[in-house]
Amino acid sequence: MGIGTRDDAAVYRLRDDLAIVQTVDIFPPIVDDPWHFGAIAAANAFSDVYAMGGKPLLAMNLVCFPIDLPMDILGEILKGGAAKAAEAGVLIVGGHTLDDKEPKYGMAVTGTVQPGGHVGIDTACAGDLLLLTKPLGTGIITTAGKQGVVDDAVLESAIEVMSALNRDASEAMTEVGVNACTDVTGFGLLGHLKSMAEASGVTARVRASDVPLIDGTWDLVCSGVAPGGTRRNLSSVDIVAAWDGSVSDEMKLVLCDAQTSGGLLMSVPPAKLSELTAALSRRGVSGSAVIGEMAEGGQHLIEVLP
Ligand code: CO
Ligand code: CO
Repeated sequence: MGIGTRDDAAVYRLRDDLAIVQTVDIFPPIVDDPWHFGAIAAANAFSDVYAMGGKPLLAMNLVCFPIDLPMDILGEILKGGAAKAAEAGVLIVGGHTLDDKEPKYGMAVTGTVQPGGHVGIDTACAGDLLLLTKPLGTGIITTAGKQGVVDDAVLESAIEVMSALNRDASEAMTEVGVNACTDVTGFGLLGHLKSMAEASGVTARVRASDVPLIDGTWDLVCSGVAPGGTRRNLSSVDIVAAWDGSVSDEMKLVLCDAQTSGGLLMSVPPAKLSELTAALSRRGVSGSAVIGEMAEGGQHLIEVLP
């Protein structure tokens, strides 16, 4: 059962050899283009199942939409979600729509996982390496997009990152076996890492310069762009983190940037790393990086090195 842990999905055992995973996610438009918004929302909704090592099977659309907006916008959102579901092999079996001032879209997702085989966040071990499968920066870039201060190419790379399914990374993970995993979403890299370290009773050590960023992220944060959620994440991480004196305020924001449909963050025994990176690259998952390690629980939940 997911109850009592901080996993984003619940696991319920139906039989000795079969458990279901249940999760839900919904949010307002993150990009202007309705089709891409739909695709990103779907990829994000499936992600909590992938993070547990499960396979999403069925989804129900959840829609909030103002009656005075053109219905073809809603049609595009749903088409984007349907395309992503088709790519993931997920059947959309229904849904529910309500009138609301601001559009929102998401899905309730049901998947399956081997009982006892699901990957939690409370089982990371001291000595594990931390591997992140997608670059950071989607919160900063989409905020710049809303402010109209971002290059098209930068926004397009962020859309590509957010739309990518975590399926292949999840399959590589379950093939090799890791100690713990979470997906990086609204609480940012360090926010989700904090939950994992706390639940596992270890200290996470991150090397800032090893954390991959989407091109353009650094320039934007240095020009002062950061979403409110990112700043709030930093405040809540700050109290449990030890920062090396050379880590800049901009870097702290990037490491706490609120992500949408971010990558998987895995805690993997060092002996399995080469097998894991091989399994990832065999599936075409590029851009993953080792960003630090877990250490014995110390004074801080997180230590950030330059
Ligand atoms: Co979630
Ligand atoms: Co999650």
